[in-house]
Amino acid sequence: MIKNYFPIDQSKSLNKKILIQPLFVDQKVKNSKEIKGLGDNKSWSSSSIIKAIEKDLKKGIKNFLLFIVPNKKQKHPEDFSFHYEVIRKIKNYFGKDIVLLIDTCLCSITVDGHCGVTHKKSIDLNKTHYSLGLAANTYLEAGADIIAPSDMMKNTTKYLRKIFVQNGFSNSQIMSYSTKFKSHFYGPFRDVAKSSPKGFDRSSYQLPVEDKVKAIKSSINNAAQGANYLMVKPGMTSIDLIRDIKKETLLPTGAYQVSGEYASLQMLSKAKFGNYVDLLLESLTVLKRAQADFIITYGARDIAKYL
Ligand code: PBG
Repeated sequence: MIKNYFPIDQSKSLNKKILIQPLFVDQKVKNSKEIKGLGDNKSWSSSSIIKAIEKDLKKGIKNFLLFIVPNKKQKHPEDFSFHYEVIRKIKNYFGKDIVLLIDTCLCSITVDGHCGVTHKKSIDLNKTHYSLGLAANTYLEAGADIIAPSDMMKNTTKYLRKIFVQNGFSNSQIMSYSTKFKSHFYGPFRDVAKSSPKGFDRSSYQLPVEDKVKAIKSSINNAAQGANYLMVKPGMTSIDLIRDIKKETLLPTGAYQVSGEYASLQMLSKAKFGNYVDLLLESLTVLKRAQADFIITYGARDIAKYL
């Protein structure tokens, strides 16, 4: 039996089990480094991340989405040794006490910050899939629980499924960023992940916010290609999509409250226009009302004790 980490959630109220805390590990960081706009979230070094996770576990958070930012940029990414080291260290230490999802994308590795390998202002799909496949394999070998491709290129989930079977990882799990909009709410993230795109924007691979049919279709495609879990992002620009996606695919579907959404709550509270916990709780409650089966939020560790 393959474990279902995030089953369809029938309960009406928020609980800790459905929350996923994003974490950043940056090879350039010595111990830890503040992240502008994201409150208590920091970039960690590959050793200090252990203490950070221990603290979150004590608060009752056990699901983590890991973003790894390596030193070296690569035109054709194929060296994922830093990623391997970090994932291995974390899983060796915590084992099954945590569920470790790894964001699988090329934007913090490529020279131009694009989510794929580029050639003359467009994406080279074959080279992109090849690199993503190497990455995902490495993460699984290191002990990752769930691969979370966020590149939004055509047929990535299908490609990963194929190579997982070839490499003896048939039971591996994929959480696809299946409906991901080209959004202006990713600002703080791109600052930490050093992934702002150069030369052209992401509209050739991310979705336009105005097209509901296309947005739902994208998740249906990822389901057909073999994703175990689907996700919409940004959360607040997708609340009307979650129910439809679940109805069409019968798969657990989560929402990602992205960096810009979360930073806006922080800014409101800093300006004394509202209370941080109240703002956060309200915004997450609405994602739950929209039937999200799991929620990725930078505030997971802060809200845990209120649930
Ligand atoms: C990379 C990626 C992005 C986010 C998650 N993975 C940014 C982007 O697409 O530019 C955004 C997360 C956030 O803003 O919190 N593909």
